[in-house]
Amino acid sequence: MKTVHTIAELRAALSASQRPAFVPTMGNLHPGHIELVRQARNLGDMTVASIFVNRLQFAPHEDFDSYPRTLQADADQLSAAGCDLLFAPNEREMYPQPQTFKIQPDPALGDILEGHFRPGFFTGVCTVVMKLFQAVFAGRAQGVALFGMKDYQQQLVIGRMVRQFALPIEIVTGKTQRAADGLALSSRNSYLSEAERREAVALSQALHSLSLAAAQAAQAGALPEIEARAQQALAARGWRPDYLTVRRRSDLLAPEGALHGQALVALGAARLGKTRLIDSLEF
Ligand code: PAF
Repeated sequence: MKTVHTIAELRAALSASQRPAFVPTMGNLHPGHIELVRQARNLGDMTVASIFVNRLQFAPHEDFDSYPRTLQADADQLSAAGCDLLFAPNEREMYPQPQTFKIQPDPALGDILEGHFRPGFFTGVCTVVMKLFQAVFAGRAQGVALFGMKDYQQQLVIGRMVRQFALPIEIVTGKTQRAADGLALSSRNSYLSEAERREAVALSQALHSLSLAAAQAAQAGALPEIEARAQQALAARGWRPDYLTVRRRSDLLAPEGALHGQALVALGAARLGKTRLIDSLEF
């Protein structure tokens, strides 16, 4: 695997590729990322990963400074998984000037759930992803980019961005990878203490119970009470939930009318100690 640090080097290394398959990451890789890289190998003629901790998607009080930076270990894993090219720019390469032009997602999708609790988050994500897409795909008739299902809203926002800007990029979403107890794999799991790690599975269990209760409810009108009970149960275990909710898979709006036959997803975000975890479950 070749590692490059500038957009010029990246473009030179990709010059022979007609369909790059791209996995953007912020590093501190876990098997969920590696599975995306494995999938990517079958989808393009060159597999590219990026590692860049994107300041634009962190609020000032969030964990930008402490976000784990583990470049060498990440590069070893990517290489072992068969990645061809790693793009690991520094901040000056990605943002040589303050990034004043930004991609602002549709508020109907970008300002709810994660966007509500992390204002500006999806503007930061879309802006860096658009810039990474320009770096990897510019001038190509086709490409493919892979994102994890755990960040459910993120993959929807990016899919909508790609469609609205008519980018010739196929977006592929990889299944959430879970630890043996069911905890969704996330770079932020490394913040958890041993006791918190044992408790952390309660979030995916809460989403499972929420989806079962919602599947038994006939009408969407019953959901607010079911969601409130799910949040209270998690709070009683010491969590601070931001949301536990059932939404339509297509646009993350609250379902209406009869629930039977609707494609739904249970989404949750909650803090355990200092760590904010998110998860989702389609049903
Ligand atoms: O999911 C992530 O790791 C980040 O949000 C992404 C897509 C790499 C953009 O910084």
